[in-house]
Amino acid sequence: MQVLTTIATFREARRKLGGSLGLVPTMGYLHEGHLSLVRRARAENDATAVWVFVNPTQFGPHEDFERYPRNEARDTALLEQEGVDMLFFPGLEEIYPRGFSTYVDVEGVTERLEGEFRPGHFRGVATVVAKFFNIMEPTRAYFGQKDAQQVVVIQKMVRDLNMDVEIVVCPTVREPDGLALSSRNVYLNPLERQAALVLYRSLCLAQARWAAGQRDARALRQEMTDLIKAEPLAHIDYVSIAHPETLEELSRIGETGLVSLAVRIGKTRLIDNVVLGKEIPIWLFMR
Ligand code: PAJ
Repeated sequence: MQVLTTIATFREARRKLGGSLGLVPTMGYLHEGHLSLVRRARAENDATAVWVFVNPTQFGPHEDFERYPRNEARDTALLEQEGVDMLFFPGLEEIYPRGFSTYVDVEGVTERLEGEFRPGHFRGVATVVAKFFNIMEPTRAYFGQKDAQQVVVIQKMVRDLNMDVEIVVCPTVREPDGLALSSRNVYLNPLERQAALVLYRSLCLAQARWAAGQRDARALRQEMTDLIKAEPLAHIDYVSIAHPETLEELSRIGETGLVSLAVRIGKTRLIDNVVLGKEIPIWLFMR
């Protein structure tokens, strides 16, 4: 595996590659969720590249940029084991040199959900993803359904700006008890880790009610909210049932809906989602 830290050396290595390139963008501290994207990229492309960069512009001033978990040596070893061809590991100055002042603003879909609670977040995400697409020139880029709104924003940016890259969305990888894998799960103490299951339980509840014929989004939101509020360590930022592409809140659920939520467990903010009629097997909730 080639480990590259500058734009110039990455571009040089990229030029020598023929065929398709699958790219997996990450902020590092890799887990099985990230690795599932890497495996899919490997299976579908001639070569695979991963970028690891904790992107400061997508963190708010009071968020966890400084303490975001990092482990370069472990990430490198994991990606080597997975047979990745190129790891791009640039420094802060390489990506945001002095005087940097150009940003990508995707309007509309960035204003609700995460955008409402993390102003500027998607501007940072879209900007860094656009930069990495320009630098790395992937054929396909792999993103997790875990960050459903991020996928919607990136897809819109690619369409609106005519970027020549295919966006591939991969399913959310979970712990055996249902908690979605996240680099931020390391912040949870054992009590909080237990309380964090309330996200998954509320998504299972939504799936089960949907399967039983519930189509009233307001009633469903309320049931989920009640379930989460019964967990003393949990504080809700939002519980949403929205159109999966426009992200507009639904009153009546049509063919499908994106159920997403952000919940703070102690100081840790967790997000998760499910598309109604897909993914979570209902029996897990019934156990
Ligand atoms: P990060 O949080 O490191 O996630 C990198 C990719 O892994 C994202 O596409 C995310 O959706 C996916 N992922 C995370 N947890 C997952 C899980 N449990 N199952 C499946 N996929 C999962 O998302 C970012 O970084 C950044 O915003 C980035 C796109 C790299 C821009 O800085």
